[in-house]
Amino acid sequence: MSMIVLGIESSCDETAAAIVKDGRIILSNVVNSQEDVHKKYGGVVPELASRSHVENIIPVINAAFDEAHCSLEDVDGIAVTQGPGLVGSLLIGISVAKSIAYVSGLPLVGVNHVEGHIAAVFLEHDDLTYPFVALVVSGGHTSLFEVRNPGEYLLLGQTLDDAAGEAFDKVAKFLNLGYPGGIIIDQISKSGNKQAFSFPRAWMKDRPLDFSFSGLKTAVITTLKKIKRDLTAAEINDVAASFQEAVVDVIVKKVFLATEERKLNKIAVAGGVASNNRLREKLREEAKKRGDLLYIPSPSLCTDNAAMIAAAGTHYLEKGVRAGMDMDAYSRMPSIPSFSTMA
Ligand code: KG4
Ligand code: ZN
Repeated sequence: MSMIVLGIESSCDETAAAIVKDGRIILSNVVNSQEDVHKKYGGVVPELASRSHVENIIPVINAAFDEAHCSLEDVDGIAVTQGPGLVGSLLIGISVAKSIAYVSGLPLVGVNHVEGHIAAVFLEHDDLTYPFVALVVSGGHTSLFEVRNPGEYLLLGQTLDDAAGEAFDKVAKFLNLGYPGGIIIDQISKSGNKQAFSFPRAWMKDRPLDFSFSGLKTAVITTLKKIKRDLTAAEINDVAASFQEAVVDVIVKKVFLATEERKLNKIAVAGGVASNNRLREKLREEAKKRGDLLYIPSPSLCTDNAAMIAAAGTHYLEKGVRAGMDMDAYSRMPSIPSFSTMA
């Protein structure tokens, strides 16, 4: 039987709603980015994010219904991001989802944002089968999982300090490139020389599937401080390209170390940084060389959206998992029930 799910996402600086059929077919996917709200501060201001979610969430949900040409009567369930994220922001989505569930009597489920990112891969690749290695690279996470079955994850490694996207954003801020920095570094790196600076790669010999990006970030900042004059535009492009290459080198190496270790040949890549052009290119090259299968969604499904939350939620709704009116928001991941199988 077919299942239509309304997804709601408000964990950070995107207010998003989507209607998804059977966890795979996007009927609508509306994202309102708060970029303009936070730009002048060079990063997300939690209080402003919450206020912006309050203003936008109802219009965004209405737009999702309009675009899908359907109404609440056509929906079979509601999935909302429960965490991790900014609690004040998460609570806006959760409150609205609870209200809709209460008045309509529809079943409600809370979704782990990271699990949502992984579910995004299925929205464009219905040929991806279990088990596979999943890399989630976003502003808050850099994690490798073995995904054994729907809802069954083994955490293989994660960042011990900054997330990859966080490093992109911090380096961009230091270079005065603006916010959000990842996409700007991606763009300007195309005109830069990636060998101009040799920045460190943290291979983490004792914990080879874990990541660390704070040393790299500090190395970039120290290098820039030593130059003691304004950089030319060409030099900024070189710094960006060299920094990006260091991040990409480490991620690619560790992804394929994970596939070797777990004896798997399928890789799903998700999260905002998965839209990075150089990362996609190097992953593709390496996967091709090894004969591995690589699955990366289009950039708009890599960054935060609600279609991925609806997709992940569909699995739990089908299994009969239900959230009560007492559902709470979680700022950190381990509190989310669906990740309880992680090692
Ligand atoms: O998944 P996402 O939208 O939000 C989180 O869950 O964090 O990821 C946002 C992160 C930001 O750090 C942003 O700078 C980074 O993804 N990002 C990129 C690119 N597009 C977004 N980083 C590198 N290259 C990109 N093209
Ligand atoms: Zn995200």
